[in-house]
Amino acid sequence: MITNTKLETQNYDKVTVTPRFCYFTSKADNQSTLEREASYSLSRKRKFIHPKFFYDKTGSDLFEQICLLPEYYLTRTEMKILHDITNELPNYLKGNYALVELGSGSSTKTRKLLEALSSIQNQIEYYPIDISDILKDSSTSLHDEYDNLKITGIIDQYEPALEFIKHIDHQKKIIAFLGSSLGNFEPEQALEFLSSIHKCMQKNDLLLLGLDLVKDTKILEKAYNDSKGITAKFNLNLLSRINKELQASFDIKKFEHLAKFNKNQSRIEMYLRSKVNQEVYITSTGFSLKFKKDELISTEYSYKYDIPQIKEMAQKTGFNLQKMWTDKKNHFALALLSLREL
Ligand code: AVI
Repeated sequence: MITNTKLETQNYDKVTVTPRFCYFTSKADNQSTLEREASYSLSRKRKFIHPKFFYDKTGSDLFEQICLLPEYYLTRTEMKILHDITNELPNYLKGNYALVELGSGSSTKTRKLLEALSSIQNQIEYYPIDISDILKDSSTSLHDEYDNLKITGIIDQYEPALEFIKHIDHQKKIIAFLGSSLGNFEPEQALEFLSSIHKCMQKNDLLLLGLDLVKDTKILEKAYNDSKGITAKFNLNLLSRINKELQASFDIKKFEHLAKFNKNQSRIEMYLRSKVNQEVYITSTGFSLKFKKDELISTEYSYKYDIPQIKEMAQKTGFNLQKMWTDKKNHFALALLSLREL
């Protein structure tokens, strides 16, 4: 385990649940972060809300529902690849590894990785990192299921949490960044983020990166416009969250979900479209916002890659590709990366 002195920084509170499970929560005030960022991003000419704000309790629950939707092929395809490589993955490991998971969410895919690690080592240190409180429940379930697991959770945004990862230097580690979450970064930021992960790694550490691949526009657009309207609820929940946390007056019925594939940019773009001319008040900031009919709030980009692009990103950020796995339909890719020897 990492020693407490290293982790108990000024910025985190530590909660010890059992001798095998503790977690750290950021002391940063979430409400003021949302207030600061949303007042800036909603007063731009092109309004936007950062997608990290999707994941309050309701948003995290809705995202879990999205992952189970027949149209949202990403989760089950990645799960199938993970299932298929459970026996093969340990061939790339050199000794005992700690598992770090960026964006661990419900930790469903974690079980596949734990299965792979359990086949070659007795004890496993697991470091889930997630912006959402969902981490507490998912880690509790894992703790109860696996006697050989020591869990140290970090509830925070990715970037500051990477500082934590740097402290995991007493053991080799495999960092899993799954679900195509890197796709929610702009290309420049994605490269920066991969470089930051690189800086947290030591010789023999590995990065397992899950990325969604470019495919037929119909399949892509269906995944973000599901027939049950769960993705629409997930998107609109951003406005409910701002209503709740910043005492705003968004009338949810006057906005609609929009998701389309931008082929040139190779990304799904998600928006909230104002159905009418309207004005919204944000009491906590004292601001009022004007919306024209059909005006858009950009809420998420979800980039889709091809294999050469993934290889290029890895190359540019100092990684060596150990192995690339895809499913039969080439819908999703899992890349295993190691540090390039200089
Ligand atoms: C978390 N992220 C990878 C999801 C995606 O597909 O970009 C978020 C999501 N947005 C709508 N549906 C799912």
